[in-house]
Amino acid sequence: MNFKVRVAEVSWLTQEVVSVWVEAPDVTGKTKPGQFFGVKVNKRGDLLLRRPLSVADVRGDFLRFIFKVVGKGTVELSRTKPGDGWDVLGPLGKPAPIFKGRDVVVCGGGVGAAPLLFLTRVLKEKNRVNVILGAKTASELILVNDFRRLKVKVILATDDGSAGEKGFVTQPAMRAIKTLLKPVVFACGPRSMLKFLMENVDQVPVWGFLEERMGCGVGICYCCAVERREGGYLRLCKDGPVVFLNEVRL
Ligand SMILES: Cc1cc2nc3c(=O)[nH]c(=O)nc-3n(C[C@H](O)[C@H](O)[C@H](O)COP(=O)(O)OP(=O)(O)OC[C@H]3O[C@@H](n4cnc5c(N)ncnc54)[C@H](O)[C@@H]3O)c2cc1C
Ligand code: FES
Repeated sequence: MNFKVRVAEVSWLTQEVVSVWVEAPDVTGKTKPGQFFGVKVNKRGDLLLRRPLSVADVRGDFLRFIFKVVGKGTVELSRTKPGDGWDVLGPLGKPAPIFKGRDVVVCGGGVGAAPLLFLTRVLKEKNRVNVILGAKTASELILVNDFRRLKVKVILATDDGSAGEKGFVTQPAMRAIKTLLKPVVFACGPRSMLKFLMENVDQVPVWGFLEERMGCGVGICYCCAVERREGGYLRLCKDGPVVFLNEVRL
């Protein structure tokens, strides 16, 4: 479904990461963790393709998007003001699997923490959730208080040791995974982080939020295809973007 939403609130979480709440009463009830929207930037030829943004949270009639400013499209979107209209397509993609009665490790690297917030809000109702967040430095950590407000265990790591444990987010994540009986892992962040987790956990299912450039966003163009280990491809926009990592070649 492609429709207009009204921007309600804009705030900067770091020098490069923006949080935007939009009012979207028709879709909040239908939107599940793991899904995303294709956001139209403007009508200029060079920005014709919609930019995929995950749903970071849902509250009442409002959806939250959190994005890092990396190029032309996100620069343009970061200039948005309350009252602006956004043209969005969605919710797109398959919802993340929702488990019950499990120990869940949620691992977010950098802006990868964003879609994990909504997921954690839903998972913590019926599971024990451990959240591990990492970034290069303290000023790049996002959403720490939002996660803490969900009353889940939150562990921090930074590459330079300026907040939490010094080192990659995968260190405390691996420790948490090893101490739990039958954990399930959800991870979003750089591919190297996802690959490390997948290759170093033994028999533990890891679900990763994957990203590829997207064309249509609805399964037609194969622009977002990732190779399956058993042959063939998964289209991230339709079969993902949350995928069982053992199933794909990273
Ligand atoms: C399903 C999905 C959900 C996403 N959710 C979020 C989110 O919640 N928050 C967020 O910050 N980002 C998210 N992204 C990434 C986001 O869509 C891209 O950063 C954005 O489209 C870049 O647009 P741009 O015009 O600013 O950059 P461009 O000018 O198109 O590119 C600038 C730079 O960004 C890199 N880039 C562009 N697209 C991607 C991409 N899809 N993945 C990784 N790098 C890219 C390019 O390599 C290039 O170096 C998501 C991507 C997907 C596929
Ligand atoms: S973006 Fe077209 S098939 Fe996924």
